[in-house]
Amino acid sequence: MCGIACVAGDSNSAKYCYEALSQLEYRGYDSAGIAGIIEREIEIFKKEGRVKNIQSFADEFKAELVISHTRWATHGKPSDINSHPHLSNDKKIAIVHNGIIENYKDIKKHCQSQGVVFASDTDSECISQLISIEQGNILEKVKAATSMLKGSYALGILSLEDNAIVACAKESPLYIAKTTNGNMVASDVICFNGIASEYYAVKQNEYVLITKDEIIVYTKDFEKKKVQYLSLDSLNINVDLAGNKYYMLKEIKEIPKVINKIASTTEQINSKVLKLFEGKKTIKIIGCGTAYHASMYGAKVLQDALRVPCDACVASEFIYANNIIDSKTLCIFVSQSGETADTLSAQKLCKQSGAKTLAITNVEYSALAKVCDEYLSVYAGREIAVASTKAYIAQILIFYLLAKKLKGESFDLKPLEKSAKQMIKIDEELVNYVTKENKIFYLGRQLDYVSALEAALKLKEITYKGAEGYAAGELKHGTIALIEDNTLVIVFATDEAIIDKTLSGLQEVKARGAKIVLVSYKKYKTKDADYFIEVPKLDKELSCILSILPLQLLAFKVCIKLNLNPDKPRNLAKSVTVE
Ligand code: M6R
Repeated sequence: MCGIACVAGDSNSAKYCYEALSQLEYRGYDSAGIAGIIEREIEIFKKEGRVKNIQSFADEFKAELVISHTRWATHGKPSDINSHPHLSNDKKIAIVHNGIIENYKDIKKHCQSQGVVFASDTDSECISQLISIEQGNILEKVKAATSMLKGSYALGILSLEDNAIVACAKESPLYIAKTTNGNMVASDVICFNGIASEYYAVKQNEYVLITKDEIIVYTKDFEKKKVQYLSLDSLNINVDLAGNKYYMLKEIKEIPKVINKIASTTEQINSKVLKLFEGKKTIKIIGCGTAYHASMYGAKVLQDALRVPCDACVASEFIYANNIIDSKTLCIFVSQSGETADTLSAQKLCKQSGAKTLAITNVEYSALAKVCDEYLSVYAGREIAVASTKAYIAQILIFYLLAKKLKGESFDLKPLEKSAKQMIKIDEELVNYVTKENKIFYLGRQLDYVSALEAALKLKEITYKGAEGYAAGELKHGTIALIEDNTLVIVFATDEAIIDKTLSGLQEVKARGAKIVLVSYKKYKTKDADYFIEVPKLDKELSCILSILPLQLLAFKVCIKLNLNPDKPRNLAKSVTVE
């Protein structure tokens, strides 16, 4: 989380940084700040809240070397003082940081023992203070300081004495580019959209010196390094709202197009990818949040296809679970961003244990795509809204295709694409009902249970309502105590093999006064349901994909009714780059 953007350019550099920060806000929006050199002094402006709070300052701030930051708070509450940039006591070094410094308390003590006084509660401030008390030129100081840091970082460092910006990174993304706005460093290539043709991803142990005139990448021994810049053309980084007010709605509407794209790129599931599955005794599928739900779907369809044990695992738990992983295990990692720290740590562990690894991600230049043995794109196109919608559909569709290819079966995604267009709608009366409710349950069995979890997560994260996804048969073991008159229960029932059991669950909550929304095929429409959402009948693995679409839209519409911003829900960030 957190986004950094630095520019060495003309006197509008702060304005360019502001534009870049606006693109990076998906990484956190607890506070924003900017620092630049004006008349041989570092001047800083930082404010709690959204990036727009620093816009008027950025417009007027006429510095040529500027570093900037948008924050997702980890250490220290969101406040002006805890915002970045952080300035050293001697006022010669300012830094912006994305990541977490795990040993910041030790570093703080070390600095305090040399008379440094800290201003904030953050872990990040220790970096500016540490650099300023190190010896040597700016590169030597940065190297000495970063060698003491434990944790992850992408850093933009403004040095008053050198009139330069230094950048370096460890386990956090950082990119450089020569742009029409000047020489730039940023947490995401998205910031270079339309202003550069090439980018370079900064690697660990590299130090980058950025001035108005040049960008120089140094090795850890401070030798100049000739690096290969990559073309931005092939990366789908266009973030146009296409006439929509919110990205979330735009992204839901794009789902049929995404299905079409996936249908036309199935050759990526080639013999190299399929070979990864050969001779494997277990398959672990690992992700977080929505990507974990996609992993659950993947575990079910792959286990059915291969009759090999497949487990879906929450990445942050997986790391500490003492799992049995070896060369007979295939580990599949699902991540929209490909930058989720928990998922990357799990990948590292699996790799060290001798497992083969496969990434399923939406960002082909992401860390996850680079470190795994093979990589499958979900081809969803850039997803900006914090709540994942089209990427989720794309992830589970990739699992569907993998299962089909592993079984050697044919498939046709045309009916899915056609039906998806019809499914992006929701009853306004239901929207109004949910808007007034505070406790909503989502039930389902097997793949429908996955949909229940995902639909509940969507509602929770953007409307802040108490929404719970439950296995339909599990509710009666305790949670049914929460059902009272008019509690809304949304029942997914698209698996005909077990539909009678699911519908018994519906009756159990109905008998306790619940209001029911049934999501199922036409023939199961019943008066027992207060609302009915009809799902077109395809393969059950595809129908369950369709069933989630109206519930994504429901979450969006309730959010709008509540006057909340669906793209930037409170406390969340799109890319969670800390463990
Ligand atoms: O980028 P990733 O797919 O690895 O992100 C994982 C989760 O943080 C993410 O899915 C999160 O749960 C979304 N906000 C859900 O909408």
